[in-house]
Amino acid sequence: MSGVHYVYATSSEPLPVLKNLNLTLNQGESVALIGPSGCGKSTLLHLAGLLDTIHGGELSFKGLNMTKASSEQRSKQRLTGMGFVYQYHHLLSEFTAIENIMMPMWIAQPVSQLSSSDIVKRASELLDLINLQDRSHHYPSQLSGGQQQRVAVARALANRPELIIADEPTGNLDPERADDVANLLINTVKNQESSLLMATHNLNLAKMCNSTYRVEKGALVKENS
Ligand SMILES: Nc1ncnc2c1ncn2[C@@H]1O[C@H](COP(=O)(O)OP(=O)(O)OP(=O)(O)O)[C@@H](O)[C@H]1O
Ligand SMILES: [Mg+2]
Repeated sequence: MSGVHYVYATSSEPLPVLKNLNLTLNQGESVALIGPSGCGKSTLLHLAGLLDTIHGGELSFKGLNMTKASSEQRSKQRLTGMGFVYQYHHLLSEFTAIENIMMPMWIAQPVSQLSSSDIVKRASELLDLINLQDRSHHYPSQLSGGQQQRVAVARALANRPELIIADEPTGNLDPERADDVANLLINTVKNQESSLLMATHNLNLAKMCNSTYRVEKGALVKENS
């Protein structure tokens, strides 16, 4: 993305949050976004994740110019090309761990053409990866916070997205669980050659990424590693 502007409309005056912001993320690269609460990290992730449209500048994904893409075009790219992990996992409470992991694959099935047995196989591999085979049929309320967050990571990886977007993925976990989830995320991104764009207040987690940027006055400032 280059020269990106984003302004929130409020009841009083418009609130510019991102101003002339530039960011390029190469395949296989991991980037951490840091900065104080309210500086615009989540806003940037929403825009990079094509959940909203920018108010100025240019945005492309996989070489496609998405600046003026319709909501259908954005949904399509999101569905097959991106995986999201949030601070509060947002698992679907009425579905089990394995069903939550399968969900993005069922939704993408018309595009991906994955067979039902492939979907079950992939979900089972992912459960192995997060070390939760024995909790496959547990509902989110029957999992610990760290386990729920691991399921959320597995769900984000389900469609082998080129880009993983994570908004404070360890923000809600104790330090030990946070390290588990962080390692899982960084390693799987490495193994799958996905890119990772992650907002975090955890500087240890930021250090595990290839580079770290601070969101400051609506733009990015590179941190020395
Ligand atoms: N829907 C909205 N309408 C108006 N202003 C908003 C809206 N959403 C966010 N903001 C404002 O935009 C700024 C950036 O918000 P954002 O959520 O991107 O911050 P953040 O860096 O992710 O913060 P945190 O670390 O607390 O998650 C904040 O000052 C916030 O008050
Ligand atoms: Mg935020």
